[in-house]
Amino acid sequence: MKGRRPRPLDDGDSGEVRVSGDLSWAKPIENRRVFYLIQSATIAFMSIISNCTASAMNDAATTLINGNLVAFPTETVYGLGADATNENAIARIYEVKGRPTGHPLIVHISSIEQLDKWARKIPEYAIKLARSFWPGPMTLILPRTKLAKDFITGGQDNVGIRVPSHIYALALLKEFNTQGGLGIAAPSANRFGAVSPTTAKSVELELGNYLSRNDQILDGGHCDIGIESTIIDCLQEKPIILRPGAVTREMIEDTLGINTDFNSPIVEGLQIKASGLLESHYAPKAQVYISGIPAPGDGLIALETLATPKGVVRLAAPKTNTEFARILYEALRLADKKSLARVFVLPPKGEGIAIAITDRLIKSAFNTSKF
Ligand code: TXA
Ligand code: MG
Repeated sequence: MKGRRPRPLDDGDSGEVRVSGDLSWAKPIENRRVFYLIQSATIAFMSIISNCTASAMNDAATTLINGNLVAFPTETVYGLGADATNENAIARIYEVKGRPTGHPLIVHISSIEQLDKWARKIPEYAIKLARSFWPGPMTLILPRTKLAKDFITGGQDNVGIRVPSHIYALALLKEFNTQGGLGIAAPSANRFGAVSPTTAKSVELELGNYLSRNDQILDGGHCDIGIESTIIDCLQEKPIILRPGAVTREMIEDTLGINTDFNSPIVEGLQIKASGLLESHYAPKAQVYISGIPAPGDGLIALETLATPKGVVRLAAPKTNTEFARILYEALRLADKKSLARVFVLPPKGEGIAIAITDRLIKSAFNTSKF
C-alpha cells in the first residue's frame, strides 16, 4: 500500500516522479523547485485512499504510531484519527480541520476494558450505558485520568470516550493497540463547520488538500448511521444528553429506568448553553432552509411521501427516518455539487433518530433560521 505512494523528494533523492523534457535552462536550486512543484501537483492528483485490506490496516496503525493522520470509517461518520497521546499529531488534526485549538476531541478505544486507562470515577449509570451501547454510536464524557492530556480535553478535567462498532474502526483500533497505541482521537473528518463525511470520497474532497502524503484515508464504504454519535455528559448525578444521536433518549431511559435531561446543544468545538449562541455547523455551501416552500431550481430533501414540486431538484427521498439520517449529509453535499444556491430540507417528525436529524438541520440552517 505504502509502496504506491511517492517518497519524499530529499536532496539526492529523485523520488518516484520522473520528469521528461529538457530542464537545463533551470539552475540547480530552481531545478529542485520545479521537481518539487511537479511532484506536489502529482500528489494532489494521487489518491491516498485505500481499501480496508489487512495490510492497509497494518499500515494505517503504523501511520498513526508514526504521528501521522488516518481518516477511517465509523458507523456514524468518518473520523480524522491521530494517536491520542501524541501532542504534535493532535495539533495536525486542528490544522487539517481548520478547527479552533483548545476544543476537546473524542478518544476512540477498542473495548470497554480500555476505559479505565482514560477515565476514572466512572458512575454506575455510565457503566450500564457502556455495557448496553458499546461498541456503538455513543460517546461518554467522564472524569479523565492523567493519560488524557490537556491537548485532548481542551484543558477540561474530563474526556469524551467512544468504542465504535464499525468492523474496520474496531480492527484499526485493535491493530493500533497491538502496535502499542492506547487510543485514537478522532473528530469528524470535515473542515470546521462543514458537513461530516459519510464516504471516503467525501473525506478526500473535504481534506485532500490539507492532508500530507504520509497520511491515509481508509475506505470502508458508506457509513451506516450517517450522523454523529450521541454525546452523554456523565459528570453529574444523572446523565445529560449533550448531542442527540442514534442512541436515543428513549433507549437511554429504558436502560437506566430514569428520566434523562436533554441539555445544551453541542456543536463542534463549542459547548453552548443558549440557543442564541448557535453557530452555523454541519453546513453545506448552499443555504439550508427547514421551513418554507422551495422554488424551481431549489434543492429538496424530504421523506418520499412528499412530492417534488415542479422544477425543484429532488436530492433525496428516503423511505424511513433511519434512511433519512444515513443519506442526509451526502444529499447536502449533492446540493453543492449541483451548485444549488438553496436547499430545503423537511426534517422527519417524531422521536428517536428524528430528534438528532432535526438537531443537525437546525444548525446547518442557522444562517437562514430565526431563533
Ligand atoms: O460520531 C462521532 O462522534 C464522530 C466519530 C468520528 O466518532 N466524531 C465526532 O467528533 O463527531 P467531533 O469532534 O466532530 O464532535 C464531537 C463533539 C465536539 O463538539 C467536541 O467539542 C465535543 O464533542 N466534545 C468532545 N470531548 C468533549 C468533552 N470532554 N467535553 C465536552 N465536549 C466534548
Ligand atoms: Mg464534527
